[in-house]
Amino acid sequence: MIDGAPKPRYERPVLIPHQVGLMNKFGRIRSLSPLTHIDGVSIEELVETYGSPLFVFSEKCLIARYRELRDALALRNANVRIAWSYKTNYLGAICRVFHREGAWAEVVSGFEYEKAVHLGVSADHIHFNGPYKPEQVLERALRDGAIVHLDHFDELARAERIAAKLHTPPKVGLRINLAAEGIPAWSRFGFNLESGQARTAVARLLEGKKLTLAGLHCHLGTFILEPEVYGQGAQKLAHFANDLRHEYGVELQFIDLGGGFASHNKLKAQYLPAEQATPSFARYAEAIASGLDELAYSPEARPTLVLETGRALVDDGGFLITTVHASKRLPDGRRGLVLDAGVNTLFTAFWYDHDVVPAQEFGSTAEPTVLYGPLCMNIDVVRDTLLFPAMNPGDRLVFRNVGAYNVTQWMQFITYRPAVTLIGRDGRHACVREREDLQTVIANERIPEWL
Ligand SMILES: Cc1ncc(COP(=O)(O)O)c(C=O)c1O
Repeated sequence: MIDGAPKPRYERPVLIPHQVGLMNKFGRIRSLSPLTHIDGVSIEELVETYGSPLFVFSEKCLIARYRELRDALALRNANVRIAWSYKTNYLGAICRVFHREGAWAEVVSGFEYEKAVHLGVSADHIHFNGPYKPEQVLERALRDGAIVHLDHFDELARAERIAAKLHTPPKVGLRINLAAEGIPAWSRFGFNLESGQARTAVARLLEGKKLTLAGLHCHLGTFILEPEVYGQGAQKLAHFANDLRHEYGVELQFIDLGGGFASHNKLKAQYLPAEQATPSFARYAEAIASGLDELAYSPEARPTLVLETGRALVDDGGFLITTVHASKRLPDGRRGLVLDAGVNTLFTAFWYDHDVVPAQEFGSTAEPTVLYGPLCMNIDVVRDTLLFPAMNPGDRLVFRNVGAYNVTQWMQFITYRPAVTLIGRDGRHACVREREDLQTVIANERIPEWL
């Protein structure tokens, strides 16, 4: 060794059986490179400041994705609106990034509605979806002037009763479900198009004269890898809108195609990696535009196209840093790594094979490895077998594309939920959600006086 040169990393010897289907025993390891920094900030600095595990969001990436979507839509439609899907990630700082870019809010519960208002979104910039809007929540939203998307006849009747008490008929949308080739229909939400239920709902709403029909909404599904599905959905809604205009003189203000674009992730059942399978925003926008071309509206009167894109906007901008706690040999010969983040933290590990990389230099040998979390539960597997280099306790890994649904669906289970940090466009970083501690967890607990 040359004097002063850094000590080479020790790599323990390992016997790797050649596996059927692999081109060589080194697999894809050669294409793996360490991720030592996020937006110029070192992983070590982040962990030293906020601890491990740690969710990190890149403001730069969130904004870039938002603008890419907005531009793809604006190129093909005169009036577009993006309503940020709160359930995908309702951390205040993340919502703020999108609202500052001009996004409205899309909420599905009283809690999300309150959160949007708390963040300064005016009610008339909120689209309110969901099958369960309790009377008080519905009344508040209608009184405030939010755009409520009615989901079923009981809600329609409830909204009419509330509207009767108001001076002007509130603007509402109708949630529609429809059949599109290539995806299962989400028929439990809204009024069905093909059976005529949606038309009955419109007739009923117009006869009641208590509500103003401002738009149609349809969320086709989620992680839809085929843009043409949106073409079909948009076309069906366009034909329906034409019929309503012709028959009842209804001039719609918006057509909302919900969310559902795929992010740069790989579903467990998916064969191709995300780089090959995930369509660009431009392809989705093109398919939607071709469907909406069927609208028999003059260009000036065309309804605004609304999208509620969630995962495809926020997934790329989220990272999870985790630390190797132990490395062990499993009886079947695979290596098992015990990490400090499990499925309670990385909830989306249940349906994605996440892209995960070491955060430091590593050796040249890879072996089949399973990534386990810290939970004393057999289900706690954050990544099924992948070819991975040897890791030592204390080494860090980074999961990429984890910005969607994790910091909303994570569970306080067995361990505390970790901190979340945001790296600003200028490289500043700040904690946007503190790591939980005992006080957070017991704050709402009460022990009866007889115990
Ligand atoms: C009504 C509605 N809009 C938007 C979304 C966001 O969907 P995605 O994250 O797949 O884009 C959802 C998710 O379920 C939804 O139910």
